[in-house]
Amino acid sequence: MKFNVVSLFPTEFKQFLNMGVVGRAFYDHLAEVQFFNPRNYTHDMHQTVDDRPYGGGDGMVMMAEPLQNTLQDIKSNGEIGEVYYLSPKGELWSEHLAKKWADSQQPKTLICGRYGGIDQRFLMKNNIKELSIGDYVLSGGELAAMVIMDSVVRKIPNVLGNEVSANEDSFAKKGLLEAPLFTRPSEWESMTIPSVLLSGNHQKINRAREKVSLLITALSRPDIIIKNNFQSDVMEALEEVDQWTDQEIISWSLNKDELQKLKEIYL
Ligand code: ADE
Repeated sequence: MKFNVVSLFPTEFKQFLNMGVVGRAFYDHLAEVQFFNPRNYTHDMHQTVDDRPYGGGDGMVMMAEPLQNTLQDIKSNGEIGEVYYLSPKGELWSEHLAKKWADSQQPKTLICGRYGGIDQRFLMKNNIKELSIGDYVLSGGELAAMVIMDSVVRKIPNVLGNEVSANEDSFAKKGLLEAPLFTRPSEWESMTIPSVLLSGNHQKINRAREKVSLLITALSRPDIIIKNNFQSDVMEALEEVDQWTDQEIISWSLNKDELQKLKEIYL
């Protein structure tokens, strides 16, 4: 899958592209990224890419012309695909979109803004959609581009050593948060792991994990439960977990008082 990244600071991506499973995916050409610096598409001595905002205000604004020249070069030299401007005003990025992008494998062009933003006419002329990674303001789109590429690339087949693990991620399984994980030793600092995990019964383990997933999602992200209509599943999970020993409940990092509050809401 091909990404074109328009950025004034392409070196910011260096570590990202050389690190971990995603770095390896770029190294193995399972994903590809090409950088385009608008500064290289200016025609004045100072390579000017920004200017003061009309009407006044803080910060500088990226000029339309160098961005337009950059886009033109991407178009004439490669596959531009869909073009997005990364901005807090955009559609919220999600696991759902990450999956859609990874499945389609269509090239994407990500435009990273800097300073106060970019000239709106450039966005209008090219009908560019905006994408946000959350309700906060970053100093530039570079971090957002890395977040987006990371979440997409890990979903491309063969990127993760174990294909299953991308589907086990929080949000990937029916949109629920992932149940807690444990590794050896089975007892640490007087804390034991949930006994079901030592049972060897995978059906039972998956069932317990699913119930815990539902409950932690109901506790920290009730919006996900409502959106997916999982209220009756939460009820079932509460009833099932009620049969577990206190020790089992605590070892899953669940709290009996919080479960009681959930019962008051869901039962
Ligand atoms: N650029 C600045 N803030 C951003 C955000 N929250 N998401 C995407 N791009 C951004």
